[in-house]
Order: sequence, then C-alpha cells, then structure tokens
Amino acid sequence: MTERTLILVKPDGVKRGLSGEVLRRIEAKGYTLVAVELRKATPELLAEHYAEHVGKPFYDPLVEFMLSGPVLAVVAEGQRVIEGFRVLAGPTDPTTAPPGSIRGDLARTWDLPVIHNIVHGSDSPESAEREIGIWFPGI
Ligand code: TYD
Ligand code: MG
Repeated sequence: MTERTLILVKPDGVKRGLSGEVLRRIEAKGYTLVAVELRKATPELLAEHYAEHVGKPFYDPLVEFMLSGPVLAVVAEGQRVIEGFRVLAGPTDPTTAPPGSIRGDLARTWDLPVIHNIVHGSDSPESAEREIGIWFPGI
C-alpha cells in the first residue's frame, strides 16, 4: 500500500545548501516526490505542526529556529515511506545518529538550546495525514 509522508528540510539544512542532498537521498531510495516548495513557516503553522511539543522546555527555541529561515516542505510517496524516511533521517540526536543517515552524516551537536538536525519526517500514518494537511492543504 502506497503511503505519503511530510518531510521538511529545516532552516539549518536550507542555509547549509543541503536541500538538494536531502531530495537526492529521497529519490535515490526510490520514493517519489509529490510536492516540493520552499516556504517560510509562521508561529501559528508551527504550533499545529509541533502540537505534541507545545509547552515543552525546547518548544520556544524550536519555533525560533524554525522561523530563522525558509524550510523546504516536501511530500514523498512510496510503500512504507513514513517509516522508511525516518530511517533515512536517523534518530533525533545527530551526534549518535548512525553514519549513512542524513542526521548522522550531515549534522552534529552544537551548544544551542535546540537540536539542529536538518530534517523532519512524519512519525506515523496519522501524523503524516495531519502534517500534509497543515503544509499542503488540498493536496
Ligand atoms: P521530536 O519529535 O521528539 O524528534 P524528531 O524530529 O526526531 O521526530 O522533536 C522535534 C524536534 O525538536 C527535534 O527534531 C529536535 C527538537 N528537540 C530538541 O531540541 N530537544 C529535545 O530534547 C527534543 C526531544 C527535540
Ligand atoms: Mg517528531
């Protein structure tokens, strides 16, 4: 069964010129790009996108970071793409993310109030449907 997932290249990835590298890895894996758009987030959109994190200690710095520059919003399609992209991305902490993953290869820990880890990927079919609706309403 084909699925769709919502991927973001976060401001650190866009600023460092890694948008193409992330798209390359998505396509090289065999997933299909359905939508790709360079966007500026808003506090309201991020409150929806990161609803599960509102009120956590890292929430305000996370929003500030996500507003610090454009993000590349992507919808990708393929069998088990939701789980598959999470594996391509690697775990949240870029220092211990394994080499071969986007976060493991391209990101590291900095002395910052929030983790900069290049990409976001939906974590479940429910999240994917919700997040695609937030970033690409009507798709
Ligand atoms: P989370 O949804 O837990 O991670 P993931 O992006 O792997 O699904 O958290 C969202 C983002 O918030 C995460 O990518 C980086 C940031 N974050 C922190 O800065 N500190 C933290 O302790 C956590 C859990 C997340
Ligand atoms: Mg998450």
